[in-house]
Amino acid sequence: MNENEEIVREAERLSEQAEDSRALYEVKMSFLGRTGKVTSLMKRMKEIAQELRPAFGKEVNALRERLEALFAAREERVKERELARRLAREKVDVTMPGRRSRTGALHPVTKVKEELIDIFSGMGFEVFEGPEIENDYYNFTALNTPADHPARDMQDTFYLGEGLLLRTQTSAGQIRFMEKRKPPFKMLSPGRVFRSDDDATHSPMFHQMEGLVVDRGVTLCDLKGMLDEFARTMFSASSRTRLRPSYFPFTEPSVEVDVSCASCGGKGCPLCKGTGWIEVLGAGMVNRRVLENCGVDPDEYTGFAFGMGIERIAMLKYGINNIKLLTENDTRFLEQFKD
Ligand code: PHE
Repeated sequence: MNENEEIVREAERLSEQAEDSRALYEVKMSFLGRTGKVTSLMKRMKEIAQELRPAFGKEVNALRERLEALFAAREERVKERELARRLAREKVDVTMPGRRSRTGALHPVTKVKEELIDIFSGMGFEVFEGPEIENDYYNFTALNTPADHPARDMQDTFYLGEGLLLRTQTSAGQIRFMEKRKPPFKMLSPGRVFRSDDDATHSPMFHQMEGLVVDRGVTLCDLKGMLDEFARTMFSASSRTRLRPSYFPFTEPSVEVDVSCASCGGKGCPLCKGTGWIEVLGAGMVNRRVLENCGVDPDEYTGFAFGMGIERIAMLKYGINNIKLLTENDTRFLEQFKD
């Protein structure tokens, strides 16, 4: 009996000290668990004379019940305390002013790229992406620019060795696309290109958007019509385009395309250097040799291609005067392009 009272007092003391439900559980187990004090008391049954056993069992069971009640009551109090502590910790002052979250914006190059895809997919173009690491064949040779061709000097190439290079133009994708697909098709190919070139309007890495249309009876007029549509949507409803003769090995005839200056409406201003026109892209009728290289019969099919610098379009559209702003990622610059 005395021993029982002692055990109860000890359980009271230890459970009083237990700060949280974990600690309390440990204490409880040290009495009522498989190796706990009460359980080992029960095991002492064998040492007791037969006739005393029922009384002893009753005593131990009574003790167990007291302890269970004790721990249950204590558990409830500990839980209440824990809840109170948690509520205090997670208290929210709903009268505090909110924190402003800074939202991002699409990069101007991304915006122009997406707008171009929008414009041309509206005319039935599908998007194709070629690799940035190319070999000589796709970037030059198949585009009618063999090794000794002077036009190779038009673009300062980063060579990687073993016949590989960083593509200097998305035109390489023309070949890859035509090797896989039979005409008719309208293809649009955005991507990064690389040239050893670096000043306020040139960056060693920039983006181009290539277009390629091949079908029966395609003419330069189709090119002009689609570019007019592009200029009106991208710049202003009154924008016009003009074609000037130029040279690219993979187009014949080749043209350079100017858009009427959106800043002065074509009257002449500093942006267009007084001419009223701004050069935006290169284009032309696909050279029949290029078609032949891709297994397309040039007597049956004709096509046009164009390639534009996306940074250049973005600079014109948003009045950006240095191409480096587009890669520095200064948030004060980028934030100006939020919709
Ligand atoms: N690839 C040419 C360049 O990078 C642009 C171009 C593309 C010209 C398609 C004609 C046809 O300068």
